[in-house]
Amino acid sequence: MSDGIYWIGAEVHTEDLFEGIWPIPEGVALNAYAIKGDKIAIIELVREWGGAALTFMKNLKSIDIDPKDVDYIILNHLEPDHTGFFYMFRSLAPNAKVVTTEKGAALVEGFYGITDNIKIVKTGDSIDLGKGKVLNFVEIPNVHWPETQVTYESNSGILFSSDAFGSYGIHKGSIFDDEQPEAIKPYWEEETLRYYANIVAKFSSSVLSAIEKLADVDIKMIAPAHGLIWRGNPKAIINKYIRYANYSKELQEPEITVVWGSMYGNTETMLNAILKGASEQEIPIHVHQVPNEDMSFILADVFKSAGLIIGCPTYEYGMFPPMRYVLEILNEKLTRFKKVAFFGSYGWSGGALKVFNELSEKMKWDIEEPLLFKGYPSKEELQKGEELGRIIAKKVKEIPSKIKNEEY
Ligand code: FEO
Repeated sequence: MSDGIYWIGAEVHTEDLFEGIWPIPEGVALNAYAIKGDKIAIIELVREWGGAALTFMKNLKSIDIDPKDVDYIILNHLEPDHTGFFYMFRSLAPNAKVVTTEKGAALVEGFYGITDNIKIVKTGDSIDLGKGKVLNFVEIPNVHWPETQVTYESNSGILFSSDAFGSYGIHKGSIFDDEQPEAIKPYWEEETLRYYANIVAKFSSSVLSAIEKLADVDIKMIAPAHGLIWRGNPKAIINKYIRYANYSKELQEPEITVVWGSMYGNTETMLNAILKGASEQEIPIHVHQVPNEDMSFILADVFKSAGLIIGCPTYEYGMFPPMRYVLEILNEKLTRFKKVAFFGSYGWSGGALKVFNELSEKMKWDIEEPLLFKGYPSKEELQKGEELGRIIAKKVKEIPSKIKNEEY
């Protein structure tokens, strides 16, 4: 990456879910780094996952580092996707001092039972590795956990940013942004947004605070714990994260996401009428059926879209259960300030609406009059559905896209 600075991470291809929840069909990169000055530091580790620990050890060997000679293990963030291999690696590198924040040290004890040879650092502290390499620490709490920090190497200008500025996805031929073929860019855009929506969205205000805190740092390269290393245009990923963080506010894309489920086709019939009305405005519409589609992908589209249409039937006097899960996650991930419509079929009662009202209470959504119908929708009700789609789409179309996507 730079003189004496190396990527030593691993690409994980696995059917396992990230955090035990989120699918990663393409995989994920666990980025780890080594810095050689007079002293040797490792920044981030990997999890023992899909062969990642073995790859990490081979990469270390390929740059002639014996674990016994490692002086510092910098743990920017303690989530086990970064530190799962720590307990074992510590035994291979007994001389290494563990460098982390005060809250990080508490998790080193909590997760790994280790309390010795730990150096606690805070914002403004630094470690001189010799040969001009100096590590500077800045705490960025809640991006993604409270203990998180970043490490800035001032000679190279590389910011080791941990989860911040990260992405799902594996490197296909190169770890660097400036070596990505044009055709791969949409893949990274999708995987970065999905990662942000799944992992970071809840902490969007902390993301903006962290970016502000780092505003005066001369960042020449961003090296996150996941995804691309931003060597050519580090500003691009910063801008992308600002744009995503603003999706938690009112600055969303003029797009609509439709999430629907249907038991016997009645709600689906209304869905088609609503889509007919909405599509007249020629704005992007993302349609997801539950429970068939995974929440990870639904969340990414809902998070960025200013418009949201929810359609589901009443089920046993309540809401179609997969939709209840969707709404609970949307609340957890702070999908706020949207133009929203709700529709659905019922048989004996309209219990789904009651649940919808309860679950959407905290979301600060601008909700249209709900469209409920008994059994199969009538011709008049279908016309109302078309009109509902039209209303949401018109409202959404009026919203300018306020944050431009920075190209890389
Ligand atoms: Fe990459 Fe919060 O873990």
